[in-house]
Amino acid sequence: METCRIMTDDTQPDYSQWRAETIALRAAQHRTAEGEHSEAIFPTSSFVFDGAEEAAARFSGGDVNDNVYSRFSNPTVRAFQQRLAALEGGEACIATSSGMAAIMTLCLGVLKQGDHLLAAQGLFGSTTAMLTRYLPRWGIDVELVPLDDTDAWRAAMRPNTRMLMIETPTNPTMTVADIAALSDIAHEGDAILAVDNCFCTPVLQQPLALGADVVIHSATKYLDGQGRCVGGAVVGRRELVDTELYSFMRSFGASMSPFNAWVFLKGLETLPLRMRQHAENAASLAAWMGEQSGIEKVIYPGLESHPQHELVARQQRAPGGMVSFVVAGGRAAAWRVIDRVKLMSITGNLGDARTTITHPASTTHARLSDAQRAEAGIVEGLIRVSVGLEHVEDIKDDLAQAISGG
Ligand SMILES: Cc1ncc(COP(=O)(O)O)c(C=O)c1O
Repeated sequence: METCRIMTDDTQPDYSQWRAETIALRAAQHRTAEGEHSEAIFPTSSFVFDGAEEAAARFSGGDVNDNVYSRFSNPTVRAFQQRLAALEGGEACIATSSGMAAIMTLCLGVLKQGDHLLAAQGLFGSTTAMLTRYLPRWGIDVELVPLDDTDAWRAAMRPNTRMLMIETPTNPTMTVADIAALSDIAHEGDAILAVDNCFCTPVLQQPLALGADVVIHSATKYLDGQGRCVGGAVVGRRELVDTELYSFMRSFGASMSPFNAWVFLKGLETLPLRMRQHAENAASLAAWMGEQSGIEKVIYPGLESHPQHELVARQQRAPGGMVSFVVAGGRAAAWRVIDRVKLMSITGNLGDARTTITHPASTTHARLSDAQRAEAGIVEGLIRVSVGLEHVEDIKDDLAQAISGG
């Protein structure tokens, strides 16, 4: 695995000599005088000062490394931020209460009335809802563009376009965007490119190294990896994250709790190991699914049938842990398969060590209009499997009996 690109700051050593596996375990360890091996949790709402003068200085200083009040400064949350920034090869990170809070913090922290936002069609359902239903209320003009049509992105740029937002691969149809090409388009127009890296994580894809300006995460997914906590993060340049977004967080307060930050820190420790196994299991499952009857289509970025197979090989270190497939017979048939699984969990979450199965059209993407779902390719027969770390033959056995009817 190649070495991550790391920026140094005043408080963190240069991690660039380490590979992702080492960064995941060793970056941002701030040991207290107790000598603990695992990181301490700091469950405190506020911090005390030596005197009034120090209190005044910390309150007015705006230094992200000062402990003031846990809405915007907490050592456990900071450790998670530093470790994730190091993994993504970014300068700075701000942790949020959820993935949606990360997207909100980025959009409202950066955009203003009169700005134009270009976002991909087929983004996660709640992201599309936030962008198309709520941002226009604040005078932000939002336009949706087909993710994989680079010419359409170029044509849609306007003088007031401030941000391009994509997810790659998308949830759940696994369309892939050319990050380097879109970053060129964004920068030619003085805009920034934001990439939701939820499906790949920095282990399989580093958008910043490909030219993106900002990475968004739902930490709820693979970063946690065991389905325990909801959280999110934005990683990017210090001048954006540690000033505009930090100040936005201080005022709007969609912050991550220290307990959750500690769980995510533990999750990051095994992320490289888990992502490799998720991807290996998913590739095996996708190949096997293609041989089953009653399946109209298998969607996996690692299959040669995937229209952007070559781009995936260029841009990602592995195709990832998600497999979608379309069963013949629409919603009724898809629900029948889901109702028959015995091993997998029927739940909306993904990126868990346990395999999960979801019917996107009636759950995660139910809030989209019929037209938005059609545009995104979320048909009624589509089922999404987040392939877990069980033995892959057990996962296949479970799906085989669910597809065949027992
Ligand atoms: C790609 C993607 N982005 C963002 C989110 C939102 O994250 P959260 O549920 O942590 O708010 C999700 C949730 O499923 C997602 O799949």
